[in-house]
Amino acid sequence: MTTVFHSIQDLRVQLNQDRNAGRRIGFVPTMGNLHEGHMDLMRASKSGCDVTVASIFVNPMQFGPNEDFDAYPRTLDSDLAQLKNESVDYLFAPTVREMYPDGVNTQIEVPSLGNILEGASRPGHFTGVATVVAKLFNIVQSDIAYFGRKDYQQLAVIRRMVMDLLLPIQIQGVATGRAADGLALSSRNAYLSDSERQQAPAIYAALQWAGQQISQGNLNYGMIEREAAAQIDNAGLKTDYFEIRCAQNLTAPGHSQRELVILTAAQLGKARLIDNLEVTAP
Ligand code: PAF
Repeated sequence: MTTVFHSIQDLRVQLNQDRNAGRRIGFVPTMGNLHEGHMDLMRASKSGCDVTVASIFVNPMQFGPNEDFDAYPRTLDSDLAQLKNESVDYLFAPTVREMYPDGVNTQIEVPSLGNILEGASRPGHFTGVATVVAKLFNIVQSDIAYFGRKDYQQLAVIRRMVMDLLLPIQIQGVATGRAADGLALSSRNAYLSDSERQQAPAIYAALQWAGQQISQGNLNYGMIEREAAAQIDNAGLKTDYFEIRCAQNLTAPGHSQRELVILTAAQLGKARLIDNLEVTAP
Protein backbone atom coordinates (compact mmCIF):
# COMPACT_ATOMS: atom_id res chain seq x y z
CA MET A 1 0.00 0.00 0.00
CA THR A 2 1.52 3.32 -1.11
CA THR A 3 -0.20 6.44 0.24
CA VAL A 4 -0.08 9.38 -2.16
CA PHE A 5 0.37 12.93 -0.88
CA HIS A 6 0.04 16.01 -3.05
CA SER A 7 0.21 18.53 -0.20
CA ILE A 8 3.31 19.41 1.84
CA GLN A 9 1.17 19.91 4.93
CA ASP A 10 -0.46 16.46 4.77
CA LEU A 11 2.89 14.74 4.22
CA ARG A 12 4.44 16.62 7.15
CA VAL A 13 1.62 15.54 9.49
CA GLN A 14 2.16 11.90 8.50
CA LEU A 15 5.95 12.05 8.78
CA ASN A 16 5.79 13.76 12.18
CA GLN A 17 3.82 10.75 13.42
CA ASP A 18 6.45 8.38 12.01
CA ARG A 19 9.30 10.38 13.54
CA ASN A 20 7.56 10.55 16.92
CA ALA A 21 7.16 6.78 16.80
CA GLY A 22 10.95 6.53 16.37
CA ARG A 23 10.85 5.34 12.76
CA ARG A 24 13.90 5.88 10.56
CA ILE A 25 12.86 7.65 7.36
CA GLY A 26 14.46 7.08 3.95
CA PHE A 27 13.84 9.38 0.98
CA VAL A 28 14.17 8.78 -2.77
CA PRO A 29 13.65 11.95 -4.83
CA THR A 30 12.82 11.33 -8.50
CA MET A 31 11.27 12.99 -11.53
CA GLY A 32 9.17 9.89 -12.24
CA ASN A 33 9.07 7.64 -15.31
CA LEU A 34 10.45 5.07 -12.92
CA HIS A 35 12.68 2.22 -14.10
CA GLU A 36 14.73 -0.53 -12.45
CA GLY A 37 17.46 1.99 -11.53
CA HIS A 38 14.92 3.90 -9.41
CA MET A 39 13.67 0.63 -7.95
CA ASP A 40 17.23 -0.14 -6.76
CA LEU A 41 17.08 3.16 -4.84
CA MET A 42 13.70 2.22 -3.34
CA ARG A 43 15.05 -1.20 -2.31
CA ALA A 44 18.14 0.39 -0.71
CA SER A 45 15.85 2.65 1.31
CA LYS A 46 13.50 -0.20 2.22
CA SER A 47 16.40 -2.26 3.54
CA GLY A 48 17.99 0.61 5.52
CA CYS A 49 14.92 2.40 6.89
CA ASP A 50 11.55 1.80 8.54
CA VAL A 51 9.64 4.15 6.25
CA THR A 52 10.38 4.99 2.61
CA VAL A 53 9.18 8.19 0.94
CA ALA A 54 9.51 8.59 -2.84
CA SER A 55 8.87 11.88 -4.56
CA ILE A 56 7.91 12.48 -8.17
CA PHE A 57 8.31 16.06 -9.30
CA VAL A 58 9.45 17.22 -12.73
CA ASN A 59 11.28 20.30 -11.52
CA PRO A 60 10.99 23.16 -14.02
CA MET A 61 13.89 25.02 -12.40
CA GLN A 62 16.47 22.47 -13.53
CA PHE A 63 15.50 22.59 -17.23
CA GLY A 64 16.96 25.21 -19.58
CA PRO A 65 14.66 27.18 -21.93
CA ASN A 66 15.44 24.87 -24.88
CA GLU A 67 15.37 21.63 -22.92
CA ASP A 68 12.79 18.87 -22.60
CA PHE A 69 10.66 20.04 -19.64
CA ASP A 70 7.38 19.75 -21.58
CA ALA A 71 8.34 16.49 -23.29
CA TYR A 72 9.74 14.83 -20.14
CA PRO A 73 7.78 11.57 -19.73
CA ARG A 74 5.08 11.82 -17.06
CA THR A 75 3.79 8.34 -16.22
CA LEU A 76 2.23 8.66 -12.78
CA ASP A 77 -0.10 5.64 -13.00
CA SER A 78 2.58 3.13 -13.95
CA ASP A 79 5.04 4.78 -11.51
CA LEU A 80 2.54 4.30 -8.69
CA ALA A 81 2.02 0.66 -9.66
CA GLN A 82 5.78 0.06 -9.41
CA LEU A 83 5.99 1.82 -6.04
CA LYS A 84 3.11 -0.32 -4.75
CA ASN A 85 4.87 -3.41 -6.02
CA GLU A 86 7.97 -2.47 -3.97
CA SER A 87 5.80 -1.59 -0.93
CA VAL A 88 7.08 1.99 -0.86
CA ASP A 89 5.17 3.64 1.98
CA TYR A 90 4.54 7.16 0.68
CA LEU A 91 4.63 8.96 -2.64
CA PHE A 92 4.89 12.73 -2.58
CA ALA A 93 3.72 14.12 -5.94
CA PRO A 94 3.34 17.89 -5.61
CA THR A 95 2.30 20.41 -8.26
CA VAL A 96 4.67 23.16 -9.41
CA ARG A 97 2.51 25.62 -7.47
CA GLU A 98 2.91 23.60 -4.27
CA MET A 99 6.72 23.59 -4.63
CA TYR A 100 7.12 27.16 -5.96
CA PRO A 101 4.11 29.10 -4.56
CA ASP A 102 5.88 32.43 -5.13
CA GLY A 103 8.05 31.42 -8.08
CA VAL A 104 11.82 31.29 -7.69
CA ASN A 105 13.41 33.79 -5.31
CA THR A 106 15.99 32.11 -3.08
CA GLN A 107 18.36 29.82 -4.97
CA ILE A 108 21.12 27.48 -3.90
CA GLU A 109 24.29 27.54 -5.96
CA VAL A 110 27.23 25.19 -5.66
CA PRO A 111 29.51 26.94 -8.15
CA SER A 112 32.68 24.86 -7.72
CA LEU A 113 30.88 21.67 -8.77
CA GLY A 114 27.80 23.02 -10.48
CA ASN A 115 29.33 25.09 -13.28
CA ILE A 116 31.61 22.48 -14.85
CA LEU A 117 30.96 19.50 -17.16
CA GLU A 118 27.17 19.00 -17.23
CA GLY A 119 26.73 22.42 -15.62
CA ALA A 120 28.82 24.13 -18.32
CA SER A 121 26.57 22.65 -21.02
CA ARG A 122 23.37 23.22 -19.04
CA PRO A 123 23.77 26.60 -17.30
CA GLY A 124 21.66 26.85 -14.15
CA HIS A 125 20.83 23.13 -14.13
CA PHE A 126 22.54 22.32 -10.83
CA THR A 127 21.19 25.49 -9.18
CA GLY A 128 17.74 24.12 -10.03
CA VAL A 129 18.66 20.69 -8.71
CA ALA A 130 20.24 21.96 -5.48
CA THR A 131 17.33 24.33 -4.80
CA VAL A 132 14.60 21.73 -5.30
CA VAL A 133 16.50 19.04 -3.40
CA ALA A 134 16.98 21.43 -0.44
CA LYS A 135 13.24 22.16 -0.50
CA LEU A 136 12.42 18.45 -0.64
CA PHE A 137 14.85 17.74 2.21
CA ASN A 138 13.11 20.44 4.29
CA ILE A 139 9.73 18.90 3.58
CA VAL A 140 10.60 15.25 4.18
CA GLN A 141 13.36 15.68 6.81
CA SER A 142 14.46 12.11 6.30
CA ASP A 143 17.39 10.50 8.06
CA ILE A 144 18.90 9.43 4.76
CA ALA A 145 18.37 10.15 1.05
CA TYR A 146 19.32 7.90 -1.86
CA PHE A 147 20.66 9.05 -5.24
CA GLY A 148 21.88 7.09 -8.26
CA ARG A 149 25.61 7.14 -8.99
CA LYS A 150 24.70 7.46 -12.68
CA ASP A 151 24.20 11.18 -12.01
CA TYR A 152 27.67 11.35 -10.45
CA GLN A 153 28.03 15.12 -10.67
CA GLN A 154 24.55 15.62 -9.21
CA LEU A 155 25.49 13.39 -6.28
CA ALA A 156 28.69 15.43 -5.76
CA VAL A 157 26.73 18.71 -5.85
CA ILE A 158 24.20 17.40 -3.31
CA ARG A 159 26.89 16.06 -0.97
CA ARG A 160 28.67 19.45 -1.13
CA MET A 161 25.42 21.32 -0.43
CA VAL A 162 24.62 19.08 2.54
CA MET A 163 28.12 19.64 3.97
CA ASP A 164 28.15 23.40 3.36
CA LEU A 165 24.63 24.01 4.73
CA LEU A 166 25.18 21.57 7.63
CA LEU A 167 22.01 19.71 6.75
CA PRO A 168 21.26 16.84 9.14
CA ILE A 169 20.86 14.16 6.49
CA GLN A 170 22.96 11.27 5.27
CA ILE A 171 23.42 10.90 1.51
CA GLN A 172 23.85 7.46 -0.01
CA GLY A 173 24.87 6.81 -3.62
CA VAL A 174 23.51 3.65 -5.27
CA ALA A 175 25.23 1.81 -8.15
CA THR A 176 24.11 2.55 -11.71
CA GLY A 177 21.56 0.09 -13.10
CA ARG A 178 22.44 -1.08 -16.62
CA ALA A 179 20.77 -2.95 -19.46
CA ALA A 180 22.46 -6.22 -20.51
CA ASP A 181 24.40 -4.33 -23.23
CA GLY A 182 25.73 -1.82 -20.71
CA LEU A 183 23.48 1.18 -21.42
CA ALA A 184 22.82 3.02 -18.16
CA LEU A 185 19.13 3.00 -17.24
CA SER A 186 17.64 6.47 -17.67
CA SER A 187 14.21 7.95 -18.20
CA ARG A 188 15.63 9.72 -21.28
CA ASN A 189 16.30 6.33 -22.96
CA ALA A 190 12.58 6.50 -23.78
CA TYR A 191 13.45 9.12 -26.44
CA LEU A 192 15.63 6.64 -28.40
CA SER A 193 14.36 5.07 -31.65
CA ASP A 194 15.08 1.35 -32.17
CA SER A 195 18.19 2.08 -34.24
CA GLU A 196 19.45 4.71 -31.77
CA ARG A 197 18.97 2.19 -28.98
CA GLN A 198 21.42 -0.09 -30.87
CA GLN A 199 24.00 2.73 -31.03
CA ALA A 200 23.67 3.90 -27.42
CA PRO A 201 25.85 1.18 -25.74
CA ALA A 202 28.88 2.82 -27.44
CA ILE A 203 28.96 5.20 -24.46
CA TYR A 204 29.57 2.49 -21.88
CA ALA A 205 31.94 0.64 -24.23
CA ALA A 206 34.10 3.80 -24.53
CA LEU A 207 34.02 4.30 -20.75
CA GLN A 208 35.15 0.73 -20.22
CA TRP A 209 37.93 1.11 -22.79
CA ALA A 210 39.13 4.30 -21.07
CA GLY A 211 38.89 2.63 -17.67
CA GLN A 212 41.04 -0.26 -18.87
CA GLN A 213 43.66 2.15 -20.22
CA ILE A 214 43.88 3.84 -16.82
CA SER A 215 43.93 0.52 -14.93
CA GLN A 216 46.82 -0.62 -17.16
CA GLY A 217 48.84 2.45 -16.16
CA ASN A 218 48.32 4.68 -19.20
CA LEU A 219 48.83 8.21 -17.80
CA ASN A 220 48.16 10.04 -21.05
CA TYR A 221 44.69 11.15 -19.99
CA GLY A 222 44.33 13.69 -22.80
CA MET A 223 44.90 10.99 -25.41
CA ILE A 224 42.49 8.60 -23.67
CA GLU A 225 39.79 11.29 -23.57
CA ARG A 226 40.19 12.16 -27.25
CA GLU A 227 40.27 8.52 -28.41
CA ALA A 228 37.23 7.52 -26.32
CA ALA A 229 35.23 10.55 -27.55
CA ALA A 230 36.11 9.54 -31.13
CA GLN A 231 34.82 6.00 -30.43
CA ILE A 232 31.48 7.46 -29.32
CA ASP A 233 31.30 9.82 -32.31
CA ASN A 234 32.17 6.98 -34.70
CA ALA A 235 29.14 5.07 -33.41
CA GLY A 236 26.95 7.97 -34.64
CA LEU A 237 26.54 9.91 -31.37
CA LYS A 238 27.77 13.45 -30.73
CA THR A 239 30.06 13.61 -27.71
CA ASP A 240 29.67 16.75 -25.60
CA TYR A 241 32.47 15.94 -23.15
CA PHE A 242 34.54 12.94 -22.13
CA GLU A 243 36.65 13.82 -19.10
CA ILE A 244 38.82 12.04 -16.58
CA ARG A 245 38.50 13.79 -13.21
CA CYS A 246 39.32 13.36 -9.50
CA ALA A 247 36.54 11.27 -8.00
CA GLN A 248 36.24 13.49 -4.93
CA ASN A 249 36.03 17.03 -6.29
CA LEU A 250 35.85 16.61 -10.09
CA THR A 251 39.01 18.67 -10.70
CA ALA A 252 41.54 17.65 -13.37
CA PRO A 253 43.72 14.96 -11.76
CA GLY A 254 47.48 15.05 -11.33
CA HIS A 255 49.32 11.79 -11.91
CA SER A 256 49.55 11.07 -8.18
CA GLN A 257 45.74 11.04 -7.84
CA ARG A 258 44.41 7.50 -7.94
CA GLU A 259 40.69 7.71 -7.24
CA LEU A 260 39.25 8.87 -10.55
CA VAL A 261 35.94 9.13 -12.33
CA ILE A 262 35.42 9.29 -16.07
CA LEU A 263 32.37 11.37 -17.00
CA THR A 264 30.75 11.68 -20.39
CA ALA A 265 27.70 13.16 -22.09
CA ALA A 266 26.60 12.58 -25.66
CA GLN A 267 23.63 13.53 -27.78
CA LEU A 268 21.80 10.79 -29.67
CA GLY A 269 18.74 11.99 -31.57
CA LYS A 270 16.51 13.72 -29.01
CA ALA A 271 18.26 12.15 -26.01
CA ARG A 272 21.10 13.67 -24.02
CA LEU A 273 22.75 10.62 -22.45
CA ILE A 274 25.20 10.84 -19.54
CA ASP A 275 27.23 8.12 -17.90
CA ASN A 276 30.38 7.66 -15.83
CA LEU A 277 32.83 5.06 -14.59
CA GLU A 278 34.77 5.16 -11.33
CA VAL A 279 38.35 3.89 -11.69
CA THR A 280 41.31 3.43 -9.36
CA ALA A 281 44.63 4.10 -11.10
CA PRO A 282 47.47 1.67 -10.21
O1 PAF B 1 17.84 12.98 -10.49
C1 PAF B 1 16.69 13.44 -10.56
O2 PAF B 1 15.74 12.75 -10.88
C2 PAF B 1 16.46 14.92 -10.23
O3 PAF B 1 17.54 15.69 -10.64
C3 PAF B 1 16.15 15.14 -8.75
C4 PAF B 1 17.30 14.75 -7.85
C5 PAF B 1 14.90 14.37 -8.35
C6 PAF B 1 15.87 16.63 -8.50
O4 PAF B 1 14.81 17.09 -9.27
